[in-house]
Amino acid sequence: MMEVRTTRRSVLGAGLALAGARTLAQPSALTDEQRSALKQANADPTLAPDLLLPEQDMAWWRDAKLGVFVHWGLYAIPGRGEWHMDNDKVPAQRYAQLARRFDPKHYDPDAWAALAADAGARYMVLTARHHDGFALWDSPASVGRFDARHAAARRDLVAPFVTAVRRAGLHPGLYYSPMDWRFPGYFKPHELTANAYAMKRQGYGQVEELMSRYGRIDILWYDGGWLAHQGTDADAAWFWEPDRLNRMVRRHQPQVVISPRSGWQGDFDVTEGDRIVTGPIRARAWEQCFSINRGGWGYTTYGDTLSGDDVVVRLVEAVVRGGNLLPNVGPDADGRIPAPQQRTLREVGAWMRRHGEAVQGTRAGPLQPVDGVWGTTQRGDLVYLHVLRWPAEELELPALPRRVRAARNLSGAGVGWREHERGLAVTVAAQDRGAPVTVIEFRLDAAA
Ligand code: GLC
Repeated sequence: MMEVRTTRRSVLGAGLALAGARTLAQPSALTDEQRSALKQANADPTLAPDLLLPEQDMAWWRDAKLGVFVHWGLYAIPGRGEWHMDNDKVPAQRYAQLARRFDPKHYDPDAWAALAADAGARYMVLTARHHDGFALWDSPASVGRFDARHAAARRDLVAPFVTAVRRAGLHPGLYYSPMDWRFPGYFKPHELTANAYAMKRQGYGQVEELMSRYGRIDILWYDGGWLAHQGTDADAAWFWEPDRLNRMVRRHQPQVVISPRSGWQGDFDVTEGDRIVTGPIRARAWEQCFSINRGGWGYTTYGDTLSGDDVVVRLVEAVVRGGNLLPNVGPDADGRIPAPQQRTLREVGAWMRRHGEAVQGTRAGPLQPVDGVWGTTQRGDLVYLHVLRWPAEELELPALPRRVRAARNLSGAGVGWREHERGLAVTVAAQDRGAPVTVIEFRLDAAA
């Protein structure tokens, strides 16, 4: 299992590079799980462009920068990650028995939301239903009523989540996987057509439940619109008809921000996995998601945990390129977020309290980032420089758009700067540098 995960991560990196050159992929040599990591991208931008949110409806999401992802379901009981059913070849009948034991005594979504708020996150996304087909809510559309209401929990677990997240002042998001391993038709859509279409009907019904029963939902995070673990989500668009699906979604939730994983391009792009992103600012809204627990997205009894600094570095590398960050936690079967994952989020919160103004409510730029070294964010007359590494005592930057009036070090006591004919030179004494990032605010002359 650990090995699968490790391999998966390297494949994941390769997969991202492959996004534009899919032909290089060797699907047969990969495990199902590895292929899952490769399945994103290649959505058809001409499919239902009228469904895209206008930029003004994306503003809150672009301002938010940080969310917390939660992978939680029956798979928390065996503690071998959310792919347990498929990885360990557990027959659907046997897997379903886990529902009888799913009674999360310590489920406290207010505590989850408080933790996310403390981390400085502005939104929280819960796996309402993952690939195993188990719905965390009371779901009449669920085939076989494989849901929390009919599990030992005997109640809807999504409703209190949405309420708690809103109460904490955060934006609620729901993750939903249209694919469902319980349906043999998922694996053989051409042979077992009726079964595959029963899965599709369930998907439409469940998405409609999620979009119509819990008040305003701010994010619909699809994952798994592909078929038979093959190709990409977009390759399966003939089957799912994501344009029709999302037209229904927009009827209920005109402003919900939709992920690209239904096969329709969605309102933002996804970068999956914990590699540190590089490259220029990306114009389209995008989000990097990864698990703080290196063992898996869902709860695992093994695996080490990324530190607060690890998350902060990824956050900075994302925001200076116009992205958001969605680190994931995996609560245990009782509903408790493991202590090391909580610690990581609290460390992120400590950093955010001091530096959040350089992150939230900003836009990337005005300068293009230098991979692994520095990048900038901006708001009005303020430019924030995020320095991850000091290649020399004096950091040389290209000129900012207007003259610098003042500079302030958010991470320590002082900062030195001088403008010269080629740009701007910045110095910060070693003891005044931040870890893992030094953030300097420059106030520019007001725009003419
Ligand atoms: C992958 C996996 C899934 C996880 C998701 C998060 O697609 O199939 O387990 O939920 O990534 O992005």
